[in-house]
Amino acid sequence: MKPWFFFLFLIIVGCGHRAPKKPISGRITDSAMVVSAHPLASRIGVGILRRGGNAVDAAIATQFALAVVYPSAGNIGGGGFMVLRLKDGTATTLDYRERAPAAASDTMYLDENGDAIPALSERGHLASGVPGTVAGLVEAHSKYGSMSWAELVQPAIDIALNGFVLTQKEAENLNEIQDDLKDLNSVLPEFLINEVWKAGDSIRYTDLGHTLERIRDHGAAGFYEGKTADDIVAEMRRGNGIITSEDLRSYKVAWRDPLFFTYKDYTVISMGPPSSGGVALAQLLRSVERYPLNEWGHNTARSVHLLTEAERRAYADRSHYLGDSDFVQVPVENLLSPLYLSERMKNFNAEKATPSHEIKAGPITFHESKETTHLSIVDSQGSAVAVTTTLNDSFGSRVVVAGSGFFLNDEMDDFSIKPGVPNMYGAIGGEANKIEPGKRMLSSMTPSIVTRNGKLFMVVGTPGGTTIITSVFQTILNVIEHKMTMQEAVEAKRVHSQWLPDSLYVETGALLVDDSISLSLMGHAIRTRDAIGRVDAILITPDGKLEGGADPRGDDTADGY
Ligand code: DON
Repeated sequence: MKPWFFFLFLIIVGCGHRAPKKPISGRITDSAMVVSAHPLASRIGVGILRRGGNAVDAAIATQFALAVVYPSAGNIGGGGFMVLRLKDGTATTLDYRERAPAAASDTMYLDENGDAIPALSERGHLASGVPGTVAGLVEAHSKYGSMSWAELVQPAIDIALNGFVLTQKEAENLNEIQDDLKDLNSVLPEFLINEVWKAGDSIRYTDLGHTLERIRDHGAAGFYEGKTADDIVAEMRRGNGIITSEDLRSYKVAWRDPLFFTYKDYTVISMGPPSSGGVALAQLLRSVERYPLNEWGHNTARSVHLLTEAERRAYADRSHYLGDSDFVQVPVENLLSPLYLSERMKNFNAEKATPSHEIKAGPITFHESKETTHLSIVDSQGSAVAVTTTLNDSFGSRVVVAGSGFFLNDEMDDFSIKPGVPNMYGAIGGEANKIEPGKRMLSSMTPSIVTRNGKLFMVVGTPGGTTIITSVFQTILNVIEHKMTMQEAVEAKRVHSQWLPDSLYVETGALLVDDSISLSLMGHAIRTRDAIGRVDAILITPDGKLEGGADPRGDDTADGY
């Protein structure tokens, strides 16, 4: 085959067609809604809302349920971020991201020659940060919960101990990790009873159920002390991990000021450091704000080119400046200043891609001074919660804490294990995100709430590693600029770029042939790939109803009343 023909073939595979169509709406309800990655978890969250619980209560119950029915990402052995906006309009964020253990160091994933050993930060005992999820949920409950703690944990205990039926996707997920489970666990997990799972099989997580009972009865102490903590430390000893009982006892969550920024007449409330999500999302929305995206159209060459060029610049900044603001100075204000962003976009050429090697992080003067899951909830009073929580990779480190039955995260890979060495999402970092004891690793998670004229407009977020930020970015633009319904905005094919590698990733079918040819001619290296993101979102419609956008890329479900 001639090289040019092969090239054209590659472009055409992965192209879609644009035809006028009737708007598709997701589930619409009158007063309350939960959208999460699993129908059972959404149902449990809605059950809490129906019993008079508020959005925070429902978020807690839904997360515990996800730890059972969706263990590849739902977790008690990982961490997350919660963005909440109460019915009176006040907003805050809770950071329960994992922290590096006290014995962690910036050389822990290097061999004797100083070369990185990425496998160590991705799999096995050394890959785990100190989990934050249970501390986070306990803290959210003590400040904003209205129902008893036990009532919120109990539904997850019931499904763990009684069992539940696997979906096709969940059966496939479990089948994929069989070898790792055997290789990485010297004590085989109790649920490893089937070599091949299929949709409709029922599964029980007895050890996990009993761990949840300890959490129900003793709160944070049911996880960070006593049997669960002892099991974690024993697991670490068996696998040369470094998390100690002192690391567990000293884990602290942090309430942080939300990042507020505007896009046209909308206000976005998002997560600041140690997530890069809010900062990068703000940079992206502000960088494209003055361009007529609505006129240019969704996923056309012009629009995708603009998004890609903004992304190149934002991810270069992310790589250089973003880290845990408890440890490094993150120049958030400068990164978001209109002057800085217009300087960054000054060399944007509407006809031509800027090679990423020509883009560096912008100059800023300091002044003294790939599995995750998202859930979006609105309660009947109008309070909203956006939570993104993760073990990092699917099933995290693939280590199951023997006796306690839950997966530990591999979040340490979100640190820059060596300057310039990409993590599993291809993200590169340096000094700001180097490993230090007690530090939180940089995240891309972007749980966000959008308001308009002081009223709730959208709750949104997604998993997807570095594609989280660009997926949330596109979902917001799809609604605001491309006038899509919430479900359409979530279903729409996505594109992604992140400075390095210098590629434009497109979901199969995202681009028309003409547009992909134009983008190639502008100099973009197009790579097709499977699903980008799994967005779960809620839109408040003009008549005050709630429209759920549940991503068909997974088992995601909008439920409510
Ligand atoms: O915090 C982060 O950015 C990553 N650990 C998220 C990982 C993720 O989204 C994987 N999901 N597909």
